[in-house]
Amino acid sequence: CLSPELIHLHQIKGKIVVVVDIFRASSTMVTALANGVQCILPVRDLEQCRAYKKEGWKIAGERNGQQADGFDLGNSPLAYTNRQLSGEKIAMTTTNGTRAISLVQNEASEVLIGAFLNINALANYLKAMNNDILVVCAGWKGRFNVEDALFAGAFSMAIGRKHECDATLAMEALFQSSKNNLAGFLQKASHAKRLQNHHLEKDIDFCLTLNQYDEIVFLQNNLLKLK
Ligand code: MLT
Repeated sequence: CLSPELIHLHQIKGKIVVVVDIFRASSTMVTALANGVQCILPVRDLEQCRAYKKEGWKIAGERNGQQADGFDLGNSPLAYTNRQLSGEKIAMTTTNGTRAISLVQNEASEVLIGAFLNINALANYLKAMNNDILVVCAGWKGRFNVEDALFAGAFSMAIGRKHECDATLAMEALFQSSKNNLAGFLQKASHAKRLQNHHLEKDIDFCLTLNQYDEIVFLQNNLLKLK
């Protein structure tokens, strides 16, 4: 479990990478594809993403937790839950989540998207694999954030592999101590407070819902799709 900025490319090579950004990019990606979106193109740059509008893509852009100017969508998973965007292709850029994907996609053997929303389905899928698995926590602008670490701890426990990683041990303990009230534990977390300031409390609760979906989201030819 590492923050994108701490990763050296040799740590990624040949590994299965699970990218997680609980608030909210990976939660939104899983929700969108589970609700019929055809595919998601993660884009690092706002202007590059805007250009896809002319090619018939819906464009989703978020910076600092808010919808970016000139975009069809921000980064709320709740924008996709009643399948109103089913069949659409979405070009998406977010502050941290799409950036984390761009940092690992060329070296990883496979990139998957992790969220509490599909955590057991993802763990059950990866249990059968022998590869090393690296959980990449998107964090916030290069800094650690606690919700992604909680996912990493929960995911490690769900997949049940032996490990000798102190960071993983710490995150498992963190999840064990807070799993009965994740929202309460995260009230003081920086990104939860940022979303509360934007009156996005419903997003927080939805992103912390476990096993809402059984779908697995992976990257194929630079596009996020359902397995
Ligand atoms: C991100 O990618 O950093 C987050 O999803 C930001 C957000 O949507 O609040």
